Amino acid sequence: MLTWGDEYQIGHEDMDGEHIILFALLNQLEFNIGSNQAASCVTDLLRALMSYISFHFAHEEALMMLYGYPELADHQLAHQALITETTRLSQRATSVDAGVVALEIRTFVRDWLLGHIRQDDRRYVAHIRGLS
Ligand SMILES: [Fe+2]
Repeated sequence: MLTWGDEYQIGHEDMDGEHIILFALLNQLEFNIGSNQAASCVTDLLRALMSYISFHFAHEEALMMLYGYPELADHQLAHQALITETTRLSQRATSVDAGVVALEIRTFVRDWLLGHIRQDDRRYVAHIRGLS
């Protein structure tokens, strides 16, 4: 269970709001996996999480482009790496139990996101602030 706290606040209202939604989706996915809900509840939520991640990454990248963030290309690569790995994990769903795959993706996204927010995302906000 993820708990939102100051250590995850990057100081950009919209992006903090989207990160809070990502926390909520990850927590709901954890709940769905842990409460033995039907496989469709788990896979639907996984789909919702991945689609929100794509939306959020596109939103962040548009913001970085708008402010001429010099590390945009590296940041995009980091985003792409998350998408590539979660896609790889989800493609195992045919050979491995869907609940096991969902748990692996949830754990991977959670660990990746916590590090990414505290390090990479803080840097573009510092850049934006430096310009304003
Ligand atoms: Fe990011």
